[in-house]
Amino acid sequence: MEKKFIIPKASGLLHGGDYNPEQWPRAIWKKDQELMDEAHWNIATVGVFSWVTLEPEEGRFEFDWLDDVMDELHRNGRLATLATPSAAQPAWMSQKYPEVLRVAANGVRQKHGNRVNYCWSSPIYREKVRAMSARLAERYGNHPALAFWHVSNEYGGECFCDLCRDQFQVWLKARYNNDLDALNHAYWATFWSHTYTDWSQIPIPGQDSETSIVGLTIDYRRFVSDNIIDFFKNESAPLKELTPDIPITTNMMGTYGGIDYWKMAPHVDFVSWDSYPGFANRPMDTTDWVYMSFVHDMYRSFKQKPFLLIESTPASSNWYPVMSLKRPGMHKLEGLQAIAHGSESVMYFQWRASRGSLEKFHGSVVQHDGTSDTRVFKEVEEVGKALESLNSIVGMGSEPQAAVIYDWENAWAIDACCGPLQSGKDYHKTVVEHYRPFWEAGIPMDVIDSDCDFSKYRLIVAPMLYMLKPGVAEKIERFVDSGGVIVMTYWSGIANESDLCFLDGFPGNGLRKVFGVWNEEIDAIHTSIPVQIRAKRGNTFGLTGEYKATQLCAMLRTEGAEVIAEYASEFYAQTPALTRNLYGEGEAYYIASRNDPEFTEAFLKLLASQCGIKPSTNIETPHGVTVQTRRDDENEFVFVMNCTSTPQTVVLPEGARLATLNGTPVAGTMALDSYGVEVLTRSHQSAHRNVVMNDEASLP
Ligand code: GLA
Ligand code: ZN
Repeated sequence: MEKKFIIPKASGLLHGGDYNPEQWPRAIWKKDQELMDEAHWNIATVGVFSWVTLEPEEGRFEFDWLDDVMDELHRNGRLATLATPSAAQPAWMSQKYPEVLRVAANGVRQKHGNRVNYCWSSPIYREKVRAMSARLAERYGNHPALAFWHVSNEYGGECFCDLCRDQFQVWLKARYNNDLDALNHAYWATFWSHTYTDWSQIPIPGQDSETSIVGLTIDYRRFVSDNIIDFFKNESAPLKELTPDIPITTNMMGTYGGIDYWKMAPHVDFVSWDSYPGFANRPMDTTDWVYMSFVHDMYRSFKQKPFLLIESTPASSNWYPVMSLKRPGMHKLEGLQAIAHGSESVMYFQWRASRGSLEKFHGSVVQHDGTSDTRVFKEVEEVGKALESLNSIVGMGSEPQAAVIYDWENAWAIDACCGPLQSGKDYHKTVVEHYRPFWEAGIPMDVIDSDCDFSKYRLIVAPMLYMLKPGVAEKIERFVDSGGVIVMTYWSGIANESDLCFLDGFPGNGLRKVFGVWNEEIDAIHTSIPVQIRAKRGNTFGLTGEYKATQLCAMLRTEGAEVIAEYASEFYAQTPALTRNLYGEGEAYYIASRNDPEFTEAFLKLLASQCGIKPSTNIETPHGVTVQTRRDDENEFVFVMNCTSTPQTVVLPEGARLATLNGTPVAGTMALDSYGVEVLTRSHQSAHRNVVMNDEASLP
């Protein structure tokens, strides 16, 4: 990997976040700079919601204040990321041009207020936004502080106005090549007499409208996503044109369902995301940490390059029903976890708590007391210092050999589907549950979608891949045929991209032969009635034990696959619950039921080891403690992270020569506080590499 930060102007990992000096008198600005020094901040995000301050009335611009903010940041040795202000239009604009306001699903135009309350299709809004980007680019493109463009803020939501409906119809014409028959076929429209005889009849589906044409619902979600991406492209075009050397990003929201981020990622120079876990502080519950790790891996996978953690809270998020504070240590753990997975920043919302309005009680680095003498400030400062000692991590990677698939279009299709469960389909949760065992084991992972290149992986786990987009079945077949190992589960290979079921038996579109099974039926069961499953005696895979399944149990007939586990209760007792098919040079596994975590862990860990995929180190960790490494030819950083609320101990490999970041050697066992994180280093030049790193290639 190249030894260059994704932000060319950065000389180190970024530490900073949202800064709104326009809310404060100038006297505070000076104080801000002093405190930012103390907090080891090297970047600030400005202008996110500044439209009315920049253009108090139509055509009258006030940039002086922003000039001063940018200069002040630069004078103090900091970078700036400058946002385009489109996330909240000024009141004068909504008043003068009501078409910029969003229309709700019930057809009622929203009144001015809140934020992200604008129409995606309004020509007037698009023009205003584009003009503002051009002005900012012209004025600040050469400013020495400008590190990258932060385009808008958290794009999302839908608009149901006539302009958007017209756009949807235009989009459909393009998708179906102007062929209405093709659209009607894709929607199986003869059902309930739904055949459209003119494009203008096609509605935006949803509340108070059409909800029964599943293909239409999925197309609408594709359209909304594409329309937002198009809006973004319009907004960023002047930035790209006028400042080609300044990278652009937009802050995404984890696995937010409204935008297919796989489609958006190619249009930004690097991806960035806002992470706000609920931190319910349930003792020993690692759910939030696994989720964040999963999302970090996805963001790194989007472009196979580092990303930024561009927002996170220094203390708590005030929009949760219960505003839990981060426990001591959690803040550093959260920040370093992001770095461990490939982030080049730890950034926050926000620098200074607003004095009034909605977010005044949201966690901030500087609270209403205005001092650095707080627990939160000190923890932020500690992160800043830690990042400074990690700058040589730039360019280091983790080279995952395994990937799990999370696919937006598939999520939309599962959501829209009537059956086999109405609630608790839990696609997202299921994917993360299949990621968790790798996380526990410290095995590096990519998180990809079904359109990605599979060929670089040894193992791919594709839970609930209900929708097979064009080419995906063929890709799976080629992947397995040429030696890859794939795991699929119940509710996979059911429908095509228009939600038309495959007619060759599930998993369809030719996958039956790859998996050597036919999924004849699927049983949905209440969670209170567990179904027993057990490893089949003498199975050649080596799985042992008994487990519980719940909610979804597919009934399989084998067509060449070996049965590794079978159901032990219900009328389908003794039929397959887990199968393996040898196909070409590879293997295809089919998990028939939604199983307890013990099953998923036992199976996937065993499978990973049989595939030769090892944890990246030989450090022995208890449950809830995970290890991630980033390395290059010369060096590596080993992040040992205790994601539990109790102190834990890890066992370091015998003979390993490891040291903490401040150079203190560690050996034997290492204690970690509750939510403790330790970053260890060692040199690859050392003959001891193989002791720590689970890497046969380096054996002497
Ligand atoms: C989002 C927004 C910020 C702020 C935070 C609060 O991430 O981008 O402006 O509202 O939420 O958690
Ligand atoms: Zn609209």
